[in-house]
Amino acid sequence: MPKHNAFGDVVDNVKDVAGKVVSGVLEAVSPADTAPHNGVAAKAAIEPVDATALLEKDHQEVKALFAEADALSDTAYGARLKIFKKIDAALTLHTQVEEQIFYPAVKAKTKRNTEERDEVLEAYEEHAGAKDLIAKLERLDPRDETYKAKLQVLGEMIRHHVQEEETVLFPQARAALGHTELEALGRQIQIAKQKAAGKSPAPKTGGAKAPAKRTAAKRTSAKTAPAKSTTARGRRSTSSARTRTTAKKRAS
Ligand SMILES: [Fe+2]
Repeated sequence: MPKHNAFGDVVDNVKDVAGKVVSGVLEAVSPADTAPHNGVAAKAAIEPVDATALLEKDHQEVKALFAEADALSDTAYGARLKIFKKIDAALTLHTQVEEQIFYPAVKAKTKRNTEERDEVLEAYEEHAGAKDLIAKLERLDPRDETYKAKLQVLGEMIRHHVQEEETVLFPQARAALGHTELEALGRQIQIAKQKAAGKSPAPKTGGAKAPAKRTAAKRTSAKTAPAKSTTARGRRSTSSARTRTTAKKRAS
């Protein structure tokens, strides 16, 4: 049961804010999305960046948030909750891109019972531990005596995890995957993040061209164009299916 208190509404909404809305977003990253020269990449300004560099940037950002939390006074309940919400959102998305994009690619290059495989498996388990603590914090009243302690322990877990990744796992990944594959993973990560942020990269087909077609139809056919309609809704309500077909033909 969610808690209802001075921070009740905020606490209840932490899960939404924290990026649970990204559910399904990562699955929506199709191979076509990751093609280097397709429309999605061009519209979303996907940079050719090594995946490990992107993940390290996330690490820096979340470590800065934990440092902010550490600097708060014991009774800064509201401020601590706000920072936790940012941490929650950042870590939720970060762990998803790692678990669904980066780790599987690294794991695929390792063999069972090797140090490299152990490192990837350990990373998954560290994420699981962090998620458990995050879930507890999401349900907890920020005035609870253990709230600050839990957030500090989460920070320690994340700092340890980050150091492990940056000094062991990422160097292994760079050696195993190589620059081209790391950039391809970086592209997938950027697309997933843009989708999660609600920056729809681009319509799959025809979306951007549709208004141009309607404009062309209007110019070239007084009979078929809905001259008095200035909005898309107006055009839709006054144009018949036959009209739209004609307009498409003339515009193409
Ligand atoms: Fe990480």
